[in-house]
Amino acid sequence: MWSELRDLTDAIDVGTPPRSGEMVSLTIDGQPVRVPRGSSVMLAAAKAGCGIPKLCATDTLEPFGSCRLCLVEVEGMRGYPASCTTLVADGMTVRTQSEALSRVRKGVLELYLSDFPAGDVPDGWSEFHQALQQCGVTSHPYGEGMGHQQAAVDESNPYFLFDQAKCIVCNRCVRACEEIQGTFALTISGRGFDSKVSPGQDQPFFESDCVSCGACVQTCPTQALVEKSLFPEGYARA
Ligand code: SF4
Ligand code: FES
Repeated sequence: MWSELRDLTDAIDVGTPPRSGEMVSLTIDGQPVRVPRGSSVMLAAAKAGCGIPKLCATDTLEPFGSCRLCLVEVEGMRGYPASCTTLVADGMTVRTQSEALSRVRKGVLELYLSDFPAGDVPDGWSEFHQALQQCGVTSHPYGEGMGHQQAAVDESNPYFLFDQAKCIVCNRCVRACEEIQGTFALTISGRGFDSKVSPGQDQPFFESDCVSCGACVQTCPTQALVEKSLFPEGYARA
């Protein structure tokens, strides 16, 4: 239903919202593709059938560029630009697959995995789990350290719960609250490792300005925000 707000009809999530206007021609993994100017490289790649792994991007929200999973190689550009925030240009040549890119993406996912409930990895279903599969990541090399695995689950809202242990702080819920619902009930508080999703003034969801629209739940790529109805026996972190 949220997709309809942006006139999105494709079943696949092309990663960033569609643009309209003059067409631009570029090459992605050797395939020619044409998309409207202002489109992201990620969207062009999706149109060319080259799905780039992503976590913080979704086509119902403006690009944000925080997770660093969607990096690509662009001829003539230094480093590995994020495909969700890099705009197409005429004659651009993009590679979405290489050994170096696989290494970088694996490193990013291993870091996220190191602070994610281990018991939820084998059977979990979410965009995060899909990204792990897409990049062939099943474990991480880090030992037990400081993590968010002991954080309390916020079950205050009657319809959904928030399990901070599964949150990768991708900001999608915050942006959905602002861009789709226009409520501004969520923020990211704290910095670095201590940054976290905070409803209102770091209150339980039910005591914040949240209107229970569900936009945050629908967009969460890890099921940190998830409908309670999926757990008729009650929620237990795996
Ligand atoms: S709750 Fe979900 S959508 Fe929000 S920041 Fe965490 S992982 Fe992203
Ligand atoms: S999907 Fe591009 S930086 Fe997250």
